[in-house]
Amino acid sequence: LKYMMVTNDGKPESLIKLVALKSLFSKQLPKMPRAYIARLVFDRRHVSLAILNENPATKDTDEEVIGSICYRPFYDMKFAEIAFCAVNASHQVKGYGTKLMNLVKREGARTGIEYFITYADNYAIGYFKKQGFSKSIAMPKGRYQGLIKDYDGGTMMECYVHPSIDYTR
Ligand code: ACO
Repeated sequence: LKYMMVTNDGKPESLIKLVALKSLFSKQLPKMPRAYIARLVFDRRHVSLAILNENPATKDTDEEVIGSICYRPFYDMKFAEIAFCAVNASHQVKGYGTKLMNLVKREGARTGIEYFITYADNYAIGYFKKQGFSKSIAMPKGRYQGLIKDYDGGTMMECYVHPSIDYTR
């Protein structure tokens, strides 16, 4: 298993991975318009953390994406919005979603992010609760107002990231 951060830095190897992440999100989040997913995943301000597996069919450099979280950090305001979070159907409920979130929190803490917020799909609220997210928003509205869009289909949830906690231990 490999964990890696992928951004649209224009390199072919990054773009190949982003195409795979776009497919994963499109498959696991069927209600989201595909063009919207593509736009955010390829947006240069978004960061994606991915868990990859060597593809057993090709046994080579070709990799299978197990799961990913794509988020946009707003460094000035010290928060980040999680846009998409998904684990491949055949690998769900094995702890990968938790592992991904802990790595995202570690990267957030490292880069000065204090709060992660997301619009959780109804059926994902339980998952986000287990990851420390809450429906009560403590972050002052002035920090995120105008930066994140209201999204009808979801419940806004927030997680405070303590700078000195190692979430991956
Ligand atoms: N409801 C309640 N609990 C859940 C759910 C759920 N939908 N999904 C997982 N859990 C629980 C697990 O049982 C586990 O509990 P435990 O720690 O007590 O054992 C815990 O949450 C963590 O489970 P993981 O195995 O780490 O999570 P998984 O790898 O299955 O990933 C995820 C969870 C990402 C939600 C996955 O099920 C998925 O891809 N679902 C489809 C796509 C989706 O709904 N994504 C979120 C949409 S919202 C957004 O993207 C902003």
